[in-house]
Amino acid sequence: MLAEATSSVAGPMRRAAEDTVGGLARAMKNVSFYDVTHPVVLDALKDMGSDLATLLEAEPEFVIKFSSGYVVLQDAPLLAQSASIGNLVGACHRRGVDTVVFRRGASEEELSQLVEVLAMDPSDVEAAGGPQQALAARGVRHIAIQKIVSRSEAGEEIGRLSEWSWVYTTALDVVRGASAEVRTGRAIDIGSIESSVRGIVDDITGDRSIVHSLNWMKGMDEYTFIHALHICILAIELGRVLGLSKDRLEELGTATLLHDVGKIFVPLDILRKPAGLSDEEFAVMSRHPVDGALVLAREPELSSVAAVVAFEHHMHLDHSGYPQMRRPRPLHMYSLMTSIVDVYDALTTVRPYRPPLPPKTAVRLMREQLATRLEPRLLSRFLDMLGPYPWGTLLRVGGDRLLVVTRPNPVEPDNPLTRVIDTADGGKVLAGETPLLEVERRPGRLEVVDPVALGIDLTALMHSAAAATAEQGRS
Ligand SMILES: [Fe+2]
Ligand SMILES: [Fe+2]
Repeated sequence: MLAEATSSVAGPMRRAAEDTVGGLARAMKNVSFYDVTHPVVLDALKDMGSDLATLLEAEPEFVIKFSSGYVVLQDAPLLAQSASIGNLVGACHRRGVDTVVFRRGASEEELSQLVEVLAMDPSDVEAAGGPQQALAARGVRHIAIQKIVSRSEAGEEIGRLSEWSWVYTTALDVVRGASAEVRTGRAIDIGSIESSVRGIVDDITGDRSIVHSLNWMKGMDEYTFIHALHICILAIELGRVLGLSKDRLEELGTATLLHDVGKIFVPLDILRKPAGLSDEEFAVMSRHPVDGALVLAREPELSSVAAVVAFEHHMHLDHSGYPQMRRPRPLHMYSLMTSIVDVYDALTTVRPYRPPLPPKTAVRLMREQLATRLEPRLLSRFLDMLGPYPWGTLLRVGGDRLLVVTRPNPVEPDNPLTRVIDTADGGKVLAGETPLLEVERRPGRLEVVDPVALGIDLTALMHSAAAATAEQGRS
């Protein structure tokens, strides 16, 4: 069932609004497999048509907005989204569709034309003069599409960031969906997972440097989902540094996105426990690799390597981890990569029982104390790739000034470019990028801080930093 919207679309109208967008998402999903005249697509359109008619009886217009990876119905956001809604958001974003307005009189035939336009190749949409022109050329009069405005030259940087949040949001929805499917014993929607991972691989291999945006994603959602996504992105980045092909990156990304799926069977009070686990609790927690592997091995569409990674990701190179094997054998390279990124993410993420470790401390721990558990050549490639201050790291200097890392510095890794944050002005960035070492500070007072603890919305902050960068580029 679709998520709840806020109360400004109340009662039965809210339900009709949710069902309308749900019908559109279903039609879009089916049209990727079947022709628009296929009964399953027609069924979805029929359902959508009747829900829409209910809405348009009450109001002359019904507006769906796709804003930075979220769906807004009239003025009420869908608070959570299913995988198919995530796919719809992605399809709209790729075709530059920001808003769809349905007017009284919209027919099923017009809905079907809308679905066809949203399923067109993005370059064909562009060639037709944009989504609204493509729709109008098909004689559609009661549906209008507005284009994303932030993709103008001036806002290109912001547009890229929005796309970013789309890739992120969709993948997160897909992981949530997979977890719900495992919990209720349904088959995992492997197709959605693979297409989401493909989006991430495209993004990373398209040189948009997802990895540098990792820090501002943290703290946005429930730890397990975020964690799975971080691991997936970091592992794909590492795979790219190692020269894996796109096919291999997709296989690796899918396996890592699902590596902790066995945690579904761990009770939440153990998963979220704010202190160390008792022996009994640890025994429950440490079953998740086996449980995950069993679930994944039953998925006929999934590469068997996903079950291998779920099974092996806590074993460690020296087999000091769990589960214990009677006759230890070498671990799969993807499992070794997963355990490296898993450890890094666990150390640098805020947990209920401790603050996040600064990246430098995490790196030192991994090099010194955890080295026997981690494959040394993979570890060294990973740490080189990361650098000491990933993009979006929030720093406090001299006890009060806040900075955000806006660009890592490959030549002088300890001296990334930063921007000062004006905490008085709702956490906006100030103009001008400054190398970290030039920012006045007392020695030893540089600390990495957690944006969530300070109530700073890093997503908004990074948008504002990107806007400042774009502004700088124009002047
Ligand atoms: Fe795990
Ligand atoms: Fe994990």
